[in-house]
Amino acid sequence: MSRSISIFGLGYVGSVTAACLAQLGRKIIGVDPNPLKVDMLQAGKSPILEPGLEDMIAECHRNGSITAITDASEAVLNSEISFISVGTPSQRNGKLDLTHVEKVCRDIGTALRAKKSFHWIVLRSTILPGTTENVVIPILEATSGKRAGYDFGVCFNPEFLREGTAISDFFEPPFTVLKTTHVYNLQSLRELYEWAPGDLFETTPATAEMVKYVCNSFHALKVSFANEIGAICKHLSVDAETVTKIYTSDTRLNISKAYLTPGFAFGGSCLPKDLRALTYRAKELDLKLPLLENIMPSNNEHIERAVEAILRVGKRKVALLGLSFKAGTDDLRESPMVQLAKRLLGEGCELKIWDKNVSLGQLIGSNRQFIQDTIPHIGQLLSDNLDTVIESAEVVVVGTKAVDRQQLAAKLRSVQTIIDIVNVGKPAEVNQMAAYAGMCW
Ligand SMILES: NC(=O)c1ccc[n+]([C@@H]2O[C@H](COP(=O)([O-])OP(=O)(O)OC[C@H]3O[C@@H](n4cnc5c(N)ncnc54)[C@H](O)[C@@H]3O)[C@@H](O)[C@H]2O)c1
Repeated sequence: MSRSISIFGLGYVGSVTAACLAQLGRKIIGVDPNPLKVDMLQAGKSPILEPGLEDMIAECHRNGSITAITDASEAVLNSEISFISVGTPSQRNGKLDLTHVEKVCRDIGTALRAKKSFHWIVLRSTILPGTTENVVIPILEATSGKRAGYDFGVCFNPEFLREGTAISDFFEPPFTVLKTTHVYNLQSLRELYEWAPGDLFETTPATAEMVKYVCNSFHALKVSFANEIGAICKHLSVDAETVTKIYTSDTRLNISKAYLTPGFAFGGSCLPKDLRALTYRAKELDLKLPLLENIMPSNNEHIERAVEAILRVGKRKVALLGLSFKAGTDDLRESPMVQLAKRLLGEGCELKIWDKNVSLGQLIGSNRQFIQDTIPHIGQLLSDNLDTVIESAEVVVVGTKAVDRQQLAAKLRSVQTIIDIVNVGKPAEVNQMAAYAGMCW
């Protein structure tokens, strides 16, 4: 555990990483262009305010495990791994500003020219998918005159610490994600994290970069959701804390993986109706709930993406498999598949529809009423014979999980295109049988 690590960027992430890795037995060289931060670390003081960090850095100073400099070359030549934790702020228009990442890559690349041994560059700054491959590696290769994967390795390893609890978050990450374009010498990176609890994911390029954005977007979404729920509870004189305690106690549907897999739009007799009722009530109370109000528009946009994907094929004869709002039910009320059918008819498509659970003759009550009000002529398009529905189609839209994909593959012809909007998956035979496109996969 004596390998040296240089850490570029001595802000929140860099300083915490430096102290924690030093405590794990690594020799750390901190690098920052700001001499004030370097001087503080050299004097055994923390450049940032974070509970517990001052003491850790003082201890590292005493045992000589952390030094800090402003010279990138010296740091690269005296370490085997360089962590990059420089800032990636927003530009005025929201675009990611990569100025510091680009500069630090030029500094490290230039230093690599004089380096004889293999060197790892581990990016911890938050960067958009594709940045490692399209920005970081090209700059490092151009400035070093060397090749990634041969003379040096590049890995993206997102950081999940939160300010205020950064040290315990560092030592107890929910998981560790390593992404490298080249697997050469990956063992030395695995060793870096062999102490870490949680799963180690070694992913494909861009996935690791995306995971960080998904985590932060999800955190932000949850905070805003909780606050909007709190606000409407307050306006309705309902105790938000009790509501929260009860709904978060459901770990089967609420605080779980449920509803978190990309698929098709939601629908049915409850979700749209209840969202509308709640947001309408908020409007009556002059309460703005932009997050809740925009869920239905977001859902409709997803249906539009399906329409676009189908029209993009450029063929008009379309087979829709599935009509009810989810597999295993004949409930058509507010089914996104019914909305999709309407939109496609409006675009001039010739539709044939199959759903093994839906027989118009058997629909009763509000279910029958909904279809009469929404799309009364659908009966002429609906068939219970899957073969005849697929036979004449140029595009087959899989909109239900109640279809056997191998059976489906056996019925398809090579001229047909499958658009899978519910993620039943690509049948093995489909390569020879037909073209396949998924909505989000
Ligand atoms: N702050 C957090 O809680 C947190 C958590 C996880 C990930 N991140 C991500 O980590 C990255 C760093 O965040 P931060 O909050 O530590 O930033 P920060 O602004 O606190 O620190 C960045 C440091 O980088 C230094 N720097 C700039 N150019 C440099 C260069 N060429 N060489 C060396 N150092 C250079 C700056 O002087 C500064 O000290 C960002 O991409 C951020 O999104 C932050």
